[in-house]
Formats: sequence, structure tokens, C-alpha cells
Amino acid sequence: MLKNKTYLVTGSSSGIGKSVSEILLNNGAKVIGISRKKTLFKKTKNYFHYEIDLSDLEKSYNEVLKILLKYNKIDGFVSNAGNGVFKSLENFSPYQINQFIKLNLTSHIIITRAILPYLKKNKTGNIIFIGSESALKGKKYGSLYSSCKFGLRGFSQSIREECANNNIKVTIVNPGMVKTPFFKKLGFSPGKSFGEFIESSEVGKIVLYILNFGDGMVLDEINLSPLKKVIKFDK
Ligand SMILES: NC(=O)c1ccc[n+]([C@@H]2O[C@H](COP(=O)([O-])OP(=O)(O)OC[C@H]3O[C@@H](n4cnc5c(N)ncnc54)[C@H](OP(=O)(O)O)[C@@H]3O)[C@@H](O)[C@H]2O)c1
Repeated sequence: MLKNKTYLVTGSSSGIGKSVSEILLNNGAKVIGISRKKTLFKKTKNYFHYEIDLSDLEKSYNEVLKILLKYNKIDGFVSNAGNGVFKSLENFSPYQINQFIKLNLTSHIIITRAILPYLKKNKTGNIIFIGSESALKGKKYGSLYSSCKFGLRGFSQSIREECANNNIKVTIVNPGMVKTPFFKKLGFSPGKSFGEFIESSEVGKIVLYILNFGDGMVLDEINLSPLKKVIKFDK
């Protein structure tokens, strides 16, 4: 049980972040959720939502500092919010490249920057990044997405070493295709049959497992894939 624990989850309105928030709430934790849209949970009593656009870096850093001042004790951070765009590099304008990296890499670094002093002060805590299989291997049309996820993985490895003496555990979870609204505008999605996709609730269970994982050890990385790799392209 995570009673008396408070976790900050970005991207709590949908998909993986919503499932993570749900399982944390069901296990007695308080969840501070960040996203642009609000989602209602059955256990609303312990859910506190903040409407923040994480691609606005300065503003979101300041908003998160205010949240931290208010709650003071934070036990962990699930850095999850993000999106995907997959096409050849020449089809992105410099502006689009910058915007994409802001949300999918820089905002994770900046929010971690805001939270770290609080976790260090408590001399305990977890930081869990939701990476991707694209953090492990670059693929056609995934140049920007992989750049961000490889970057997040490198960041996670460095921060893990920096925080170890403060008893803060840093983990990155790298899923393959998870059935979420992530694919809504992408033109492709995972297969629909058994074994062709990961359920977001399974990623939630993994986050819970990480939070309950033994003292004196850290789970560095968890990679997970659907049993079968099937990609369906929209007609
Ligand atoms: N689905 C997959 O196959 C898969 C696989 C590996 C890794 N991932 C990663 O998992 C994470 C979550 O993806 P998902 O599959 O759960 O997708 P999703 O269902 O589309 O959820 C994305 C979440 O991020 C939030 N978000 C997006 N832009 C935001 C912004 N500018 N400011 C604040 N919040 C923002 C969204 O909230 P609002 O729209 O309300 O702002 C939403 O809650 C992403 O980092 C993604 O790269 C996904």
C-alpha cells in the first residue's frame, strides 16, 4: 500500500499516465496530476489536477515549484507526458522540431530539476521515466521521437548516479506499442488481437512494482514488448 505517499504524474489525463494514476490512487496514494485536459477518476478524493501545458517550459517550471511548495512532501515523480510524430526529418520545420523536443525531452529534464531538491531533502523517493523501445533503437521516421527517448534514457542514467547517495531511485520503463490514444493521429497503431499490444494498465502495474521494489536496490531499466510485433496502417 502507498498510504501517506504523494506522487506527481505528468500526462495523467490519458493512456499510460491515466492508468498509472489509477493504480496509485487504488493503492492509497495521493496523486498530483498534470496535463492540459482533466480526467475524472473513481477515487477523486486523493487526486489533485493541475492544468499545465508542459511545452511552455518557463511557465510549467514555475507552476511545478508552486505545487511543490504547497504539498511540500513528494515521494516520487512519474515523468510520462508526451506525444509522437513520425515522418522523415525534412517534413519538420525548425519550429516543429523545437516544439517536439521541448515537450518530449526538455520538459522532463526541467520538471525533474524542480522536484529533485524536494526528494533530496527527504533523502528518499522514486523518479520513473516513461521511455520507449525507441530509446533502445532508432527506426525509419522516428528521428525526433528516438532523439528524445534516447536523450531521456541518458538523462535517467546520469540522474540515477547523481541521486544514489540521497537514496533516490531512478528508473526508466521502455514499452513497445501500448494501446492508448497516442496513435490517434499517427496513421498507424498496434494490432488489435491478443499479444499484439500492451495494455496501459500493465504499465501501471510495472510502476507499482518499481515503487514497492526492495530497499538498497534500484531497477535501472525495464523493457517490455507485446508478444508479437504487429503494426496496422490506416487506410
Ligand atoms: N502508446 C505507446 O505505444 C507508447 C509506447 C512507448 C512509450 N510511450 C510514451 O508514453 C507516454 C504517454 O503516452 P500514451 O501512450 O499514454 O499517450 P496518450 O494517451 O496520448 O497520453 C499522453 C499524455 O500526455 C499529456 N500531454 C501531451 N502533451 C502535453 C502537454 N503539452 N502538456 C501537458 N501534458 C501533455 C496528455 O494530456 P493532455 O492532452 O490532456 O495535455 C496525456 O495525458 C509518452 O511519453 C509516450 O512517448 C507510449
